[in-house]
Parts: sequence; C-alpha cells; structure tokens
Amino acid sequence: MAGPLADKHVVLGVTGSIACYKALDLASKLVQAGALVDVIMSHGATQFVTPLAFRSITHRAVVTDSFDPDSEYSVEHVALAQQADVIVIAPATVHCIAKLALGLADDSLTTTVVAARCPLVVAPAMDGNMYDHPTTQENLATLKERGVVIAGPGIGRFASGLSGVGRLLETPDLLGNISYAMGINGDLAGKTVVVSAGGTMEPIDPVRVITNHSSGKMGYSLAEAARDRGANVVLVTAPTNLTAPALIDVVQVNTAEEMRVAIQARTATTDALVMAAAVADYRPTKAEDQKIKKTEDDLNIPLSKTTDILKNATGNFVRVGFAAESQNLVANAKAKVEAKQLDLIVANDITAEGSGFGSDTNQVTLIDRDLGVEELPLLSKYDVSNRIWDRVKDFFRD
Ligand code: PMT
Repeated sequence: MAGPLADKHVVLGVTGSIACYKALDLASKLVQAGALVDVIMSHGATQFVTPLAFRSITHRAVVTDSFDPDSEYSVEHVALAQQADVIVIAPATVHCIAKLALGLADDSLTTTVVAARCPLVVAPAMDGNMYDHPTTQENLATLKERGVVIAGPGIGRFASGLSGVGRLLETPDLLGNISYAMGINGDLAGKTVVVSAGGTMEPIDPVRVITNHSSGKMGYSLAEAARDRGANVVLVTAPTNLTAPALIDVVQVNTAEEMRVAIQARTATTDALVMAAAVADYRPTKAEDQKIKKTEDDLNIPLSKTTDILKNATGNFVRVGFAAESQNLVANAKAKVEAKQLDLIVANDITAEGSGFGSDTNQVTLIDRDLGVEELPLLSKYDVSNRIWDRVKDFFRD
C-alpha cells in the first residue's frame, strides 16, 4: 500500500469529549491507509464511545486501564511507546493537555506519552471559552515549544449549540497533521518548495472559460509528499475539486497570468519550483464583459499566447517541469528541458492507461538536464511524487 502511513505504528489516544465519535472515523481511515493502530482510551472517553467500537475497527486490543492483568504486554506503556512511529491524541481535552504540559503520568495514555520519543500530535477539542482560557493557551504553547504538533482546533459549531474555535479537526486534516509530524525532520526539512497544480481557466465571457482536464491530483500529491518529508510547501493551484491539504500554504488562482504573478512573487525564497499545473498556452485576447449571445453559425475567438511561467521564472532554484504529451514523449520532453532550461522534466504520456489527467496513478519518464532518461513504472501519484523529490534533492543549490 502506498502513502506515508503504510505499515506505520500509530498509537491513537482518545480522551473524554463528545468528539470521540470522530476518532472512530480517524481510526478507520488510519487502518485503511495501512497503519497498525493501537488505541488507548481515557476513562472519560469510554463514557462516550465503547472500546469495542475501536477494537472492531482496528482489530487490536484497546487499552483502557494501566493495571489490566490480562494485558498482552508486560509493561504496556513502555511497549507501546517503543513501537510507536507516532502518537496522536484526538480528541485531546483541556485536562489531557494540562497533564501533558506538566508531564503528569497518571494513566495509560500519559505514561505512554512520557515513555515515548516519537512525534506527538495533539488535536484539541473543547468549548471555545475553554480553548481561549489562558491556562489552555499556555499549556498548548508549552507543548508547541517542545515540538509537539498541535493539530487545529477548527472553527465551527459545538455540541452545546455555541460556535467558536475549539472543534476537533476533520479526519483529512488530522491525517495531514499526522503525516507532517512523522516527516518533520525528513530529508526536505529546511527547504521551501513551490508546486503548481490544476488546469488554469481563461475567461471567454462571464459564463465560459477555456480550461483542460487537469484534476490537480498530481500537483496536490507533490505538495503533500514534500510536506511529509519536512519541506515548507507553497501550493499555487488553479480551481480543482480537491480539499486544501493541511499545513500547506495554498494560493488559489484562476488564470495563467494569476498563476505567473503568484509564483514569481515566491521565487526569491524558494529552493525548487515544480510545475505540475496544466497551464493554458493561449487565452482569449479579450474576455467579453457580457455573455456572448447565440446568433451567428460560427464564432471566432481571437487568442493570444500566455507567458510561459516556467521559462520566465527567475531566481536560483531547482526548476522542474512536466510535459503532457500524446506523441513523441521523450523527444518532445527533451526539447522542453532545453527550451525552458530545466533541471528535470517529468514526461507524462497522457494516452497511457491509468496515467495523466484525473487518475490516482501515473506512469512517467524522468529526464534530467543532462538528458539522462529514467522510466518509472505505473505508481500512485504520491509515489511518483516521492521519486521526483528524490531527484530534486540532487539538484539543490546548497
Ligand atoms: O492534474 P492531474 O489530473 O493529476 O493531471 C496531471 C497532469 C497530466 C496535468 C500533469 O501530470 C502534467 O503533465 N502537467 C503538465 C501539463 C502541461 O501543461 O504540460 P505542457 O507540456 O503543456 O507544459 C510544459 C511545462 O511548462 C509544464 O510544467 C507547465 O506547467 C509549464 N507551462 C506551460 C505553459 C505556460 N504558459 N507556462 C508554464 O509554466
């Protein structure tokens, strides 16, 4: 199974909040992502959701008591702490956060945290006033200073009917925070990368646009893979149906020109620019102010060339392009390496099965600035991304 959580050992701590029901979904998604999940529940959590519910999802024993004589481990908290690749506490109550900040270890979960040396993710869930309280804020600041990843909380409606900041993050965001925490000291730590994604939209009139079939999946996977290896990531994206990934600076644009401006504004501080976006080569010379009426049999729309973003991006960074080709893949891609002065191009045969636009997989050929060719097999877009970052590392300027 592909992805950052495959074969990872996750200890999921669940403490007493109505948001416990969401932790069931998190446990399920972790298991689906290939993780081995051991759940530790506080006494309060067991009042909201049963251990059996977690056990049914994880297919593993659920820890609820430090002094369980039937435990499969001789010293449970030490065993779990040593095996864990990451500990996630979701939901984390005010009480749990305070105990963590003080280093208290009075139950299975807190003793496991103190015994562990792996990354820790804490996802607060509480009423807005409890979250705002100075002691909660101080405790969270203490944890952050120690390198704990504080996931959220989100904004919205509480079970009480009130609204504010304090909701447990939704599962996709929690998963993003967990992947981020596991890779925080990865091989791209300290690097800033700009990734582009999606298909630009060039207006014809207030109703119609010229666009293409890019779903954004390739660019978003590149952004997530870089985040999961420790990079600071800026994702400049044309409209897609995808959710903004957690802990990535997402810049929304529509047109090729907006994308150019957004990227150029960030090139001074980037270590790499990876252009996975399908950028319009031509745009309507003039976008009409009013909707074009259906009158004539033929309609001609004058088009003008857009600026080539990659070719014209100036600065001292690694330059990676994609080449979406329907014929002469390698020859066309090699020509683009030279024309755009690239360090690497990802040649994408958009006619191949399971490859190119919209799919979750991609089959690409990597061609470097010396015109060396590396053909990759059909892989998930996340795995393709990691193969690309493996190569980008060779080209970093320092
Ligand atoms: O989004 P998905 O559905 O996952 O699909 C992924 C993808 C097929 C869009 C992606 O893998 C891909 O191939 N992206 C590049 C598509 C493309 O526009 O290729 P191109 O050969 O026309 O352009 C070459 C390079 O120049 C690209 O990196 C492009 O981003 C860049 N470019 C193009 C035009 C322009 N005005 N400015 C640019 O910077």
